[in-house]
Amino acid sequence: MSKIKIGVIGAGSISEAHLNAYANNDKVELYAICDLNEERAKAKAEKYGASKTYVDYHDLMNDQDIDAVSICTWNNTHADIAIAALNSGKNVLVEKPMTTSMEKAYEMEETVKKTGKKLQVGFVRRYASNTQVLKKFIEEDDLGEIYYAKATCIRRLGNPGGWFSDIERSGGGPLIDIGVHVIDVLWYLMGCPKVKSISGNTYNKLGNRKNIKNLSFYQAADYDPDKNTVEDMANAMIRFENGASLLVDVSFTLHAKQDEISVKLYGTKGGAEVEPSLAIVTEKYDTILNLAPQVDSTTFDFGQAFQAEIDHFVDVCLGEKETLSPVADGVEMTKILSGIYESAEKGKEIYFD
Ligand SMILES: NC(=O)c1ccc[n+]([C@@H]2O[C@H](COP(=O)([O-])OP(=O)(O)OC[C@H]3O[C@@H](n4cnc5c(N)ncnc54)[C@H](O)[C@@H]3O)[C@@H](O)[C@H]2O)c1
Repeated sequence: MSKIKIGVIGAGSISEAHLNAYANNDKVELYAICDLNEERAKAKAEKYGASKTYVDYHDLMNDQDIDAVSICTWNNTHADIAIAALNSGKNVLVEKPMTTSMEKAYEMEETVKKTGKKLQVGFVRRYASNTQVLKKFIEEDDLGEIYYAKATCIRRLGNPGGWFSDIERSGGGPLIDIGVHVIDVLWYLMGCPKVKSISGNTYNKLGNRKNIKNLSFYQAADYDPDKNTVEDMANAMIRFENGASLLVDVSFTLHAKQDEISVKLYGTKGGAEVEPSLAIVTEKYDTILNLAPQVDSTTFDFGQAFQAEIDHFVDVCLGEKETLSPVADGVEMTKILSGIYESAEKGKEIYFD
């Protein structure tokens, strides 16, 4: 069987996770790397043995040898690159957030339909083993009807700077960058109910706190603290048509005592925690039980999740599996994120039909 040829577009921080996972998959030939920064593309190509490098993604699209691409660029470029790839007959794995506007999200969905090519959205937490273990319990109805979900993803100091903080390129701050992961994994585990209304708030109170010394944090490949046009904190209440609700709060910076991640769901027969550690709560013979699954990792395992996501995408390209994170879910998640920003801007709850 011939290997599928992969091109990776965007050779910054997260491309390393894609490249590493492709390199571990023996159905794949890592073939091309593209980045606006030629040196960066060449360095990754050398490290991973890719034979071609590109600076302009349009040139990569003309390379008929490439079967599929990973898109690891700034958020505002995802849609145009994905659409060009689909139109040139390539399957696409696009990093989260899928895009930054509803208009682009619908265009991506249309292009998937028109071309018949595959698109997987990089909702990597769906592929994490702790999520998949819990999914099985939910599918077997161990939680009953899930009516409430709650996510917190707080960085007390963690504005990555560079393009992440430039609203033109990122589309937003912590909500679109890290909030998307925790909202999506809960929404996925809830069975992707249709959103009915959203009430959101965003705050630009603390800036990026570049003044802080003696505490390090994650920074973008091209770190620049001088531009910051994104929110530093967001929260929201999302109501779904089935009556369930989801409460979320996220920050790049907040006067919190420590960083915090918490992802929890509650149903009529039981509850569950995905983060900080997988746990299932239930009741039997009039006694409450806290169940502790005995699994390799009870928390998000970055390496395992990326490997599972990439392996799954490769099998989707080979026609062996359906993606767990299709374009339609990317459209719905764009609707939720855009809805939170819209509600915050208008200062009132917004409704969808
Ligand atoms: N799934 C996850 O857990 C996760 C984690 C981090 C980042 N991401 C996502 O991955 C994407 C990239 O983030 P990052 O942290 O790697 O950023 P980064 O700044 O480290 O790297 C982005 C790279 O894309 C390149 N680039 C931008 N526009 C381009 C274009 N039109 N053509 C070619 N190259 C282009 C830049 O030159 C840069 O090298 C973002 O969408 C981000 O949201 C996902």
